[in-house]
Amino acid sequence: MTATHHAPAAAESGASATERFKSDKLATVADTPKERVDLLAREVLSAVHETIRRHKVTYDEYNALKAWLIRLGEDGEWPLFLDVWVEHVIEEVATEHRQGNKGTIEGPYYVPGAPERGSRGSVPMRDNEPGTPLVWTGRVTSTDGTPLAGATIELWHADADGLYSQFAPGIPEWNLRGTFSTGSDGSFEIRTVRPAPYQIPTDGACGALIAAAGWHAWRPAHLHVKVSAPGHELLTAQLYFPGDEHNDDDIASAVKPELMLDPAPAEDGETVSYGFVLDPAA
Ligand code: DHB
Ligand code: FE
Repeated sequence: MTATHHAPAAAESGASATERFKSDKLATVADTPKERVDLLAREVLSAVHETIRRHKVTYDEYNALKAWLIRLGEDGEWPLFLDVWVEHVIEEVATEHRQGNKGTIEGPYYVPGAPERGSRGSVPMRDNEPGTPLVWTGRVTSTDGTPLAGATIELWHADADGLYSQFAPGIPEWNLRGTFSTGSDGSFEIRTVRPAPYQIPTDGACGALIAAAGWHAWRPAHLHVKVSAPGHELLTAQLYFPGDEHNDDDIASAVKPELMLDPAPAEDGETVSYGFVLDPAA
């Protein structure tokens, strides 16, 4: 299979996201208790039944749904579908108790084990990586204000074409993916480039749903992070840029006002200051 036969982002991104989920997360999925399966499956099915009655769903519409669900699996787009249209509510429920940063969805493109770059450094990138250079400084603290030394910040994001390494072809393996740690005062400095707005793949089943419903496929430009420190809850978040036309209508409903950056022009690109507050683990 050669890359020239494909739009760069789509079909391959879906299949890669499915493979990534199977290799990283499937093994950690514990058996769900029977009582929970019974309760949740019954309530979800009731909501479907209620929708059918309320809108008098026809056999043609039912068969269109069947065909679409079959295609969703064939295209490997279950992770994309769930992360775009469901994960934001899972995240909301999972973090509602937090005093520190609440975060937002992980999405389908996280890969553990990105190269380590210390507390001040550049994310791996190509020579002449396209995009505005961005110098990001910040501090990681606990909810009581204590700086957290040796905290870990995993950063991953799309390039200036809106493509993610390891999911779109032709990009170096760890491009725009790095692991940073905080210094003794909890501080870090990360050099990267501004990502572009991201369009979820349009040539698979998710794209077919978007087209059939007359929606758009865009997420605003964003930086993904996972921030962790011993004795603290893992924070999964995304950071956004003011003025992006999709901040108010993100297809994945994952923008929160507290995740908005405030970049300032600098000599060569932009600087931005943004830190994280982690909740002690219960
Ligand atoms: C999707 C992509 C993202 O970059 C993201 O943050 C969330 C969802 C997706 O294509 O499903
Ligand atoms: Fe993303």
